[in-house]
Amino acid sequence: MKITVLLCSHRRNKNTRQMADFFLEHLEEGNDVEFVDLLDKKIEICLACDYCRRHYGHCILKDDMEDVIDIFKNSDLIVLATPLYFNSVTSRFKIFIDRTQILYNAKYNFKDPIFKEKKNVAVLSNGGAPKYPGQFDGIMVELKHFLGNINADVLEYLKYNKTDEVMIRDNKKAVAELKEAGGRVKEKIKLQKP
Ligand SMILES: Cc1cc2nc3c(=O)[nH]c(=O)nc-3n(C[C@H](O)[C@H](O)[C@H](O)COP(=O)(O)O)c2cc1C
Repeated sequence: MKITVLLCSHRRNKNTRQMADFFLEHLEEGNDVEFVDLLDKKIEICLACDYCRRHYGHCILKDDMEDVIDIFKNSDLIVLATPLYFNSVTSRFKIFIDRTQILYNAKYNFKDPIFKEKKNVAVLSNGGAPKYPGQFDGIMVELKHFLGNINADVLEYLKYNKTDEVMIRDNKKAVAELKEAGGRVKEKIKLQKP
């Protein structure tokens, strides 16, 4: 099974990466795991030029976006790992999401989706502040159309707060839950592919 983890933090090896690592603990064995860190990718801001509305599946910008879409297409499980920035996903992730307009146009204007089969997806998020009302509300609102673009079936959505005080790796409950959730996903995917 091919697992792709999209790391959307603006910092390396902090809470977001820790979440992904614990989540993968049961999933890694025997599977091919690829980390796509948005910090390493050149992904330009969508020009809103409508090129992808006129040219099926093509973007006028030539950067790393097409490669990442191909990696997604070839994945059995996609893990989206983002910190909370202003109650939503990070700006790097938002730039990435906007560029999936090519998928949106393929699906709704050309009526020929690029992601035809359901994709298994897990969403991991963490916010630095202690719990407050509506803290994570923006995440799924922001992801809704993007998840539609990649035809996602969200198997797990995990989120933790107060990470600016207690890092994920020091939060025993979070570590246990992340590992368990990864194990659940492993079982669910096994059932899909007997
Ligand atoms: C620009 C910015 C905006 C943030 N906005 C929020 C927020 O709205 N709510 C919150 O709880 N934490 C917020 N944080 C804190 C981050 O969510 C927190 O530090 C998180 O653990 C960062 O993930 P990382 O350790 O992988 O970098 C913000 C941090 C930054 C840099």
